[in-house]
Amino acid sequence: MIQFLLNQTVKMLENVDPNTTVLNWLRGSEHRCGSKEGCASGDCGACTVVIGRVDGEEICYDTANSCITLMSQLDGKQLLTIEDLSDGDKLHPVQQAMADCHASQCGFCTPGFVMSGFALQKASSAVGVDRHDIERSLAGNLCRCTGYRPIIEAMQQSCAAQPDKFTRTEAHTLAHLKSLQQPEMVELTKSNRCLLPKTLAQLAALYQQNPQARLLAGGTDLALVITQQYQTLPLIIGMNQVTELKTITVTESQIRIGAMATLQACLNELLPYIPAFSQALERFASPQIRNNGTLVGNLANASPIGDGAPMLLALGAVVELRCGDSTRLLPLNQFFLDYRKTALQPGEFISAVLINRESISPTFAAWKISKRMDDDISTVFGAFNLHLNEGIVVSAYLAFGGMAAIPARAKRAEQRLLGAQLNQQTLEQVCEALVDDFQPLSDFRGSGLYRLKIAQNLLKRLLLLHTEKHYALEVNNYVN
Ligand SMILES: Cc1cc2nc3c(=O)[nH]c(=O)nc-3n(C[C@H](O)[C@H](O)[C@H](O)COP(=O)(O)OP(=O)(O)OC[C@H]3O[C@@H](n4cnc5c(N)ncnc54)[C@H](O)[C@@H]3O)c2cc1C
Ligand code: FES
Ligand code: FES
Repeated sequence: MIQFLLNQTVKMLENVDPNTTVLNWLRGSEHRCGSKEGCASGDCGACTVVIGRVDGEEICYDTANSCITLMSQLDGKQLLTIEDLSDGDKLHPVQQAMADCHASQCGFCTPGFVMSGFALQKASSAVGVDRHDIERSLAGNLCRCTGYRPIIEAMQQSCAAQPDKFTRTEAHTLAHLKSLQQPEMVELTKSNRCLLPKTLAQLAALYQQNPQARLLAGGTDLALVITQQYQTLPLIIGMNQVTELKTITVTESQIRIGAMATLQACLNELLPYIPAFSQALERFASPQIRNNGTLVGNLANASPIGDGAPMLLALGAVVELRCGDSTRLLPLNQFFLDYRKTALQPGEFISAVLINRESISPTFAAWKISKRMDDDISTVFGAFNLHLNEGIVVSAYLAFGGMAAIPARAKRAEQRLLGAQLNQQTLEQVCEALVDDFQPLSDFRGSGLYRLKIAQNLLKRLLLLHTEKHYALEVNNYVN
């Protein structure tokens, strides 16, 4: 049985199909129809809800796309929807600001914008926000009628507002949420099953016994199998309750990212160590997706256009694989075997990804090229990690997404760089070698020729980064 708070009401659910999305449950079972379905694929933000989770002695309020969040992901959390925001007859400051600034026309997108604004207000009341923060927080919400200027004005107005009813009741809610934490593994069953192990050992044993089960991390890929491909998953093993997997540990020599560390946690926590990694993650999907999706889920999904893999390949990362009681380490460049085929054995999963800190060059760079700035999939993603000694390249890792059936390193281009000085002549040779490394496909995101040209241009940008630092950094800030 899963337990969670719907605003302040405890919900205990046992008999729910674990393939049910939070949006369908809200609208179908609770008759809360404020959250809308626009796309059912996490793209438009009309279904945005806020999920409160215990973080030490605080509650963190994160946005989520309820259309691709499965019911089991609510266990131990607080679910807030647009219906919960007003205080009696009084609108919530974000709602009031949306009305004052004339920020809604058809209103289909409005509940989603309000929920994103609410999460922003909760995160920022102490520190304040600037326009960049607002734009980032709205990156996962689309509006086709009003235009963003009044919406952004509304966010500016409401973030300056006073504490709300949730602030007043936070201590009570926190205690309530803590009391809902369950010590044992729980299950959600109605024809299909979802098991929620509590420990890594339980998870490993369970998956080894049931290798046909689907592992659920953030669900931002997996839920689409249900909502877009109309498949039913008979057995899901949710990893959301395995606390050990959520941590990111940084020691002098290593960064260890647990399988359930969200993309947003990676963005925040890796910033001091690999700033370009965090900057690139700002362009990964949207806040709603990053709050739930994980970096490891991105690797396991093995998409050739995933953004995490090129960066981790360029950093020479290693994946920690677990099956039952056994653990093995595998360099990430041996993990991707073919299109969406990985080295994972039946019943085996990734427990963490490891980065050797010595291998991180201070000039590590990662650039995403996509049609839209926000909430878009890469056409090409390039990540570059060069070490130089007195101007000579002593180690070169050039990794790309979108250039082949798997995310891959440009081995021939790397060879051309080794032992060379970084200059125009080397660059030309490296760009030539790239043609032997990759013969990219053409699709609706770009032709093969276009992809190759972009990849070569990213290498030119890399040369600028090393030779004309100031200019390159400006380009970096602008394009990223
Ligand atoms: C609107 C939208 C925008 C997106 N934008 C981007 C983008 O900009 N860039 C990008 O790269 N991706 C993007 N994605 C894809 C997705 O968000 C990422 O791939 C995400 O990192 C997946 O992580 P998750 O935790 O949600 O994985 P899940 O969906 O939970 O799992 C993905 C797959 O991996 C398996 N799995 C999960 N964890 C493990 C594990 N530890 N060991 C073994 N198998 C595991 C699952 O069984 C499943 O098959 C987008 C998706 C959506 C819906
Ligand atoms: S309905 Fe579009 S993101 Fe959920
Ligand atoms: S007001 Fe119509 S889509 Fe936003």
